[in-house]
Amino acid sequence: MKLKNCYNFHDFRRLARRRLPRPIFDYIDGGADDELTYRRNTESFEKVDLVPNVLRGVQDADLSVTVMGQKLALPVYCSPTALQRLFHHDGERAVGAAAAKFGTMFGVSSLGTVGVEELRAAYDTPQVYQFYFHKDRGLNSAMIQRAREAGVNVMMLTVDSITGGNRERDLRTGFSIPFRLTLAGMLQFAIKPGWGINYLTHERFRLPQLDAHIDMGSDTMSIGRYFTEMLDPSMSWDDTARMVREWDGQFCLKGVMSAEDARRAVEIGCTGIVVSNHGGRQLDGSRAGFDQLAEIVDAVGDRIDVMMDGGVQRGSHVLKALSIGAKAVGLGRYYLFPLAAAGQSGVERALGLMRDELVRDMMLMGYSSVDQLCRANLRWR
Ligand SMILES: Cc1cc2nc3c(=O)[nH]c(=O)nc-3n(C[C@H](O)[C@H](O)[C@H](O)COP(=O)(O)O)c2cc1C
Repeated sequence: MKLKNCYNFHDFRRLARRRLPRPIFDYIDGGADDELTYRRNTESFEKVDLVPNVLRGVQDADLSVTVMGQKLALPVYCSPTALQRLFHHDGERAVGAAAAKFGTMFGVSSLGTVGVEELRAAYDTPQVYQFYFHKDRGLNSAMIQRAREAGVNVMMLTVDSITGGNRERDLRTGFSIPFRLTLAGMLQFAIKPGWGINYLTHERFRLPQLDAHIDMGSDTMSIGRYFTEMLDPSMSWDDTARMVREWDGQFCLKGVMSAEDARRAVEIGCTGIVVSNHGGRQLDGSRAGFDQLAEIVDAVGDRIDVMMDGGVQRGSHVLKALSIGAKAVGLGRYYLFPLAAAGQSGVERALGLMRDELVRDMMLMGYSSVDQLCRANLRWR
């Protein structure tokens, strides 16, 4: 299978599986515990039907949205994800370039593999900086300052990861940074030499958001230990309120799932929230973001920009979320598998297919602009 034969999420996923050593594919593809939440994220879109309008003379569709002060040409953005240069040697550079080409926003993870400054300078499109909250408050302030100086547009604090999810696929393969593979995991690398040659012949793997502050990726500090030893599970609403004040700009909480927490996010001055369960990678059994969306939009949608992510594989999924009241929708694996399959061209193909699907589905729905979507378009099974 080649990139030009990829037409949907499943095609890209298949191509990525062929290219990647199994431990890396499983790191992307896997979820927590029984992966129930991971499966439900996509299934939840199937419980809702679209009701189209006909004979409205729609010749094109305006897909642009404004979210957290950023004007995007598409109602989807690339959600921040860790370790992208492990998936393809261009990593965040490929994602940033593709996002810029399609006029949308992309996120850079605290565990990103290209520096936030380099990405900000290279791609003229809104950039999110995804933050993990550390025990060391001085370190937090230094990282906030660095993001500000880089010119990041939106600060996104992930709040669903005060401890790492139980990802059993990773336990089986021994996936960790630095690599500590099981014998079976090593064998999987040996049978994908193409990936290994690429990895070894390109710039050294680094975690530049953290390298300046912590000796990451060495034997003394693995990512597992980073989560358990450096991040602060006692992070509270007061800590977050202080961080919102310190940032003093567009500030978003990623991983809000209850209406009560959404109201508190408004109270402490956040400008956005992402209804998300981290792609089913954290609390298994947690509700799907899409199922929880209406409740949260009803509670705070008039006071804060509500976004959602999780399980989005199709333009029609995006239209359903926008119909409920999401301002924009985050993509995770939808762009990661194409990244792994073919770098920048892969991500561009995936975003291009998404854009085409959105335009086609908008026309078939009888709408010329995404702000016309509303709950009257939907029926629950
Ligand atoms: C491989 C991988 C790495 C991720 N890394 C991060 C991260 O570093 N920070 C974060 O807030 N979310 C991270 N996420 C979660 C995504 O931002 C997003 O919430 C999730 O992938 C959405 O679900 P989807 O993959 O089904 O679209 C990661 C997700 C994946 C699949």
